[in-house]
Amino acid sequence: RFAARLVPWQHQGEQVTMSLDPQASYLITGGVGALGLQTAQQLVADGARRLVLSSRRTELSAAQQQAVMELEAAGATVAVVGADVGEADAVQRLLAHCNALGPLRGIVHAAGMIDDGVLAAQTPTRLAGVMRPKAEGAWHLHRLTTGYELDFFIGFSSLASAIGSSGQSNYAAANGFLDGLLHARRAQGLTGQSINWGPWSAIGLAAHLTATMQRQGIGMISPAQGRAIFCYLMRQATAHVAVLPLNPAPPAPLVPTAPLRNELVQLPDAERLSHLIRWLQREVSRVLLLDRPERVELEQPLFDMGMDSLMAVDLRRILSVDLKLSLHATLIFEYPTIRSLASWLLGQLRLSLGETNEATENPPDVRVMAQPEAFVLPEAIDDATDAELLAFIDQEFGEVL
Ligand SMILES: NC(=O)c1ccc[n+]([C@@H]2O[C@H](COP(=O)([O-])OP(=O)(O)OC[C@H]3O[C@@H](n4cnc5c(N)ncnc54)[C@H](OP(=O)(O)O)[C@@H]3O)[C@@H](O)[C@H]2O)c1
Repeated sequence: RFAARLVPWQHQGEQVTMSLDPQASYLITGGVGALGLQTAQQLVADGARRLVLSSRRTELSAAQQQAVMELEAAGATVAVVGADVGEADAVQRLLAHCNALGPLRGIVHAAGMIDDGVLAAQTPTRLAGVMRPKAEGAWHLHRLTTGYELDFFIGFSSLASAIGSSGQSNYAAANGFLDGLLHARRAQGLTGQSINWGPWSAIGLAAHLTATMQRQGIGMISPAQGRAIFCYLMRQATAHVAVLPLNPAPPAPLVPTAPLRNELVQLPDAERLSHLIRWLQREVSRVLLLDRPERVELEQPLFDMGMDSLMAVDLRRILSVDLKLSLHATLIFEYPTIRSLASWLLGQLRLSLGETNEATENPPDVRVMAQPEAFVLPEAIDDATDAELLAFIDQEFGEVL
């Protein structure tokens, strides 16, 4: 059995001599998307003068119009063509547009979309939606260009298929197909290269790098770095390469740190709430990788600050250990602000110490989620595995992850 392994890139000396032909056309699918436009800029800087940029919508935003105008100002003819690359006929029409501009010599397949959610919450429809642009689109492009003399056929793949990524099983599958197809092209003597991009900063699908990824030691690629790396890689003979910015000193893993329960027990009752609030501000900052714990708002929902369901499960685990309390998996969803969480937790602590607790007898109405009536905890939630918990959370609050 052969399985892929990540090994550090070594300059192989084997370069493809390639200059872009100003008379030829070049196709970028997803070409008016974030990485598509960066790629277009790079191709034009390298000498390409006839570009076809495809996306389903051709009504461009002001920023996209500006980017196209800049390409034209640099001397390029740019056609923005509407085509769903998941449809063979549309791809056929797209290729006809390219050939009308000049013989098609290169393809960058950057069309793609995400629809994240834990595996148990995935459906055939969600999978198909993500497979359509990336995998089916690549397949149509491959099949319909077999007679073409292409200098490059580059697929923009993702780390999701190289090392995995939480909540991205469908996206990993689509990218995995793309990786495999490009290998298959190479095996057939055709040109093909798959680039498993790490997250680009500031633009595109992954601009909002979560603290979870940062904790895994994954850094960001700036657009300028990305363009330079693309320019370098497209001239390398390699079929498959991952671009993975590694942070050698990632933030510390999330493990419980303090005997919070003992600290609270030793404090006079009047001081416990403020102590717990300060502790929560610190822990939330640690989970979200924020610099200034004292600035973490007490009334702002944690999900508005960037928390996702995986982080919520982490925070609940830390709280359970540090307070020695058995806490519901959906705790952070039920009490989504620091203030509501702190008062509820203090009530539970008092109950577990055998003290009376007015706050728990009259709990504040803190269920601020959109559909409180739909929020029904399964009976077996306390025995659920992490995967089952996340599936439940995903189903109840699909938008959150
Ligand atoms: N950004 C990153 O950090 C990153 C990292 C790894 C890999 N990638 C890959 O790089 C590619 C570009 O990503 P991005 O960040 O630039 O995303 P983006 O800005 O959302 O661009 C993706 C483009 O794909 C187009 N598209 C989606 N479905 C399509 C379909 N069925 N037919 C034709 N076009 C379609 C979208 O346009 P319409 O909606 O108008 O069709 C959009 O312009 C994606 O394949 C992504 O998986 C990106």
